[in-house]
Amino acid sequence: MSIGVVLLLQSKGCLMEVLTVAATASLVKSMIEKLGQLWKDLIIFWDLDKECDITKDMLTIISIVLADIEKKFITNERICPWLSQLQDATYDVDDFLDDLQIEKQRSKGKFPAGAIWDFLSSNNQVKFHYKMVKKIKRINTRLDKSMEEKRNFQLVERNFVMEEDIARRETFSIVDESNVYGRKEEKKKIINLLTNDKDNEILSVLPIVGIGGVGKTTLAKIVYNDKEIKKYFDPIVWVYVSMKFQLSKILEKIIECVSRKGCDVSYIEAKVNKLETMISGTRFLIVLDDVWNEDAIKWEELTTILKCVSTIGSKILVTTRSERVARIMGTFDQFRVDPLEFEYCWKLFEKRAFQYVDEEEKESCINIGKEIIRKCKGLPLAAVHLGNLAGLREVDWCIIRDSNIWQTTEYWNGIMAFDIFRSSLLFL
Ligand SMILES: Nc1ncnc2c1ncn2[C@@H]1O[C@H](COP(=O)(O)OP(=O)(O)OP(=O)(O)O)[C@@H](O)[C@H]1O
Ligand SMILES: [Mg+2]
Repeated sequence: MSIGVVLLLQSKGCLMEVLTVAATASLVKSMIEKLGQLWKDLIIFWDLDKECDITKDMLTIISIVLADIEKKFITNERICPWLSQLQDATYDVDDFLDDLQIEKQRSKGKFPAGAIWDFLSSNNQVKFHYKMVKKIKRINTRLDKSMEEKRNFQLVERNFVMEEDIARRETFSIVDESNVYGRKEEKKKIINLLTNDKDNEILSVLPIVGIGGVGKTTLAKIVYNDKEIKKYFDPIVWVYVSMKFQLSKILEKIIECVSRKGCDVSYIEAKVNKLETMISGTRFLIVLDDVWNEDAIKWEELTTILKCVSTIGSKILVTTRSERVARIMGTFDQFRVDPLEFEYCWKLFEKRAFQYVDEEEKESCINIGKEIIRKCKGLPLAAVHLGNLAGLREVDWCIIRDSNIWQTTEYWNGIMAFDIFRSSLLFL
């Protein structure tokens, strides 16, 4: 952490919190490493891998959450007690590993190497095994509770937090359609809706809605680049909106895209005037990608301006994860994007995952890969990210397939899970 950041946080009175986050993160990380190092020697030896697998997955998720809290300077008065509980649970994992170590040392030499089941069948060892199963299950319950409580935080994010995320997610209109699988029907339906003007509306809004990573932006891109669309609308503009819905910024982006140069005015009024001279009397299409704004007033300001400069038949195509956003913005019924068919998700994955794998290894991985893709439930984003973990061996794919991460809400909340897979593999 830089001195500047420390000073900034100190001035905000939250240095203690940040230092505790850093300390807890390092403690959790060291425990994941320790679990990995002692896996064969102690955990498999004591036949505790099923329970410890859950512990390791939860610690991995927690370590990513902590890194996120640290990176985003999230502060909250309830974080300190939460961190302290988490530290206690992590120390318990350490104690648990120590107990395994001590018991192994104590009974060394009594049993032939590798005879784990003979070893466990001894009365004392069976008792010890049960005691340790109970112990690790208790730890897992505590960790699970910690993860649950983390979700209840009213996390306060500072404004500058989001800049980095926004930059990372920013989209553009270009797409290589030969790499887009399926979506032909959906594309046709959207184009029909956009180019069918029987209602003589001046400006209509069609929201494309679906869960994160289902392919809304991709669908909007193939519509945007279609010949018929380009013939029907002029100008056509792609605007990435993001979580920050700023009227002035959106106007500026439209001006820049239409004029193909920078916007040289800064006042909103000047931007409106400029836009008016540029697109007045045209039938335009504006794609607003990734909209989160649920404030109807802000939305109305934008549509009022665009309605005033538009002629009949102009359209706005919106992509959003939120049905509420779609209800506020849409004049058309929302267009739902369903998960992608299994065959397409498989193709997406296969193309990436087996790039650097020889034919023999590919053969043995195909069935595991298919099981993994079934777990992706039609989310192309999941298939892409998993496929991009290219070059893995059969054993790595098995770990991913059998991971508990599939059951966590973190997984279904998006991309974070793929970092988790990556980290879990690193620790093995
Ligand atoms: N039909 C498809 N064929 C091939 N790749 C696809 C398809 N749909 C989506 N993808 C890929 O999946 C990933 C996620 O797609 P996309 O960004 O369109 O999802 P989204 O629904 O807009 O997600 P978000 O809610 O995060 O904005 C991208 O890498 C994209 O290239
Ligand atoms: Mg998108």
